[in-house]
Amino acid sequence: MDKPKFIHNLFSRIAGKYNLLNDVMTLSLHRQWKKQTVAIAAKAIKRKDAKVLDLCTGTGDIAELWIAHPAVKDVIAVDSCAQMLQVGYQQLEQKFKGPPPKLQMIEADALSLPFEDNSFDAVTVGFGLRNVNDLLKACEEIKRVLRPGGILVSLDLGHPSIPLVDWLYKNILLKIIPIIGMFFAQDKAAYQYLSDSLKTWPLQKELSQGLYSLGFTRSFTKDIMLGTIAIVAAEK
Ligand SMILES: C[S@@+](CC[C@H](N)C(=O)[O-])C[C@H]1O[C@@H](n2cnc3c(N)ncnc32)[C@H](O)[C@@H]1O
Repeated sequence: MDKPKFIHNLFSRIAGKYNLLNDVMTLSLHRQWKKQTVAIAAKAIKRKDAKVLDLCTGTGDIAELWIAHPAVKDVIAVDSCAQMLQVGYQQLEQKFKGPPPKLQMIEADALSLPFEDNSFDAVTVGFGLRNVNDLLKACEEIKRVLRPGGILVSLDLGHPSIPLVDWLYKNILLKIIPIIGMFFAQDKAAYQYLSDSLKTWPLQKELSQGLYSLGFTRSFTKDIMLGTIAIVAAEK
């Protein structure tokens, strides 16, 4: 399978329904998780007028949270899917009644970021790294564009450490997701992928260890909802 093409087609198809499905599938809890993600990243920012990157921004939920943050001057939101960016930009334009302040949305690939080394104080990624074709390369790119002392915070699906919860999550909850996708987005395949993608996605502790191996100096994880969702953070 050509994963980049598959992922691009998938998000192009569901862009218009993406936000609705997120709210339905998580009972809007994803909004709280995204706030936690930005709070962890913001805590590590040590200077005023910070520049942050929201990678795999999709429809820009996390970018919107960054815009509201007083210590942040520039918000760069990157995604490889033009349709997702378009839906996101239109929503933000409506909310801000004009061009969203501080924000630049850029269509680009996480595996080849169009930014200089040491450019950002923080990089956030919401449910994005699981979708890239080469996780190692994406993490190397993030490290390259982060300033020394800068932080990466990834929010994504996790693997519960309690065996019963893990079993229930993977055999019951994730089996319901494609049915929700079929009902609300008429796209069972897209949401089947969401469940399937967890099979090759590392444990949160493994991802954290991998980031140390890449030269990040400090890394930690935070389980949400019994580890079904996980934040993995790492400082350069
Ligand atoms: C599940 S969505 C997450 C959107 C948003 N961050 C959120 O949390 O709601 C994943 C996004 O990653 C983007 N994406 C996948 N592969 C990418 C890549 N190689 N480079 C940039 N964006 C990518 C997709 O286009 C999609 O918008």
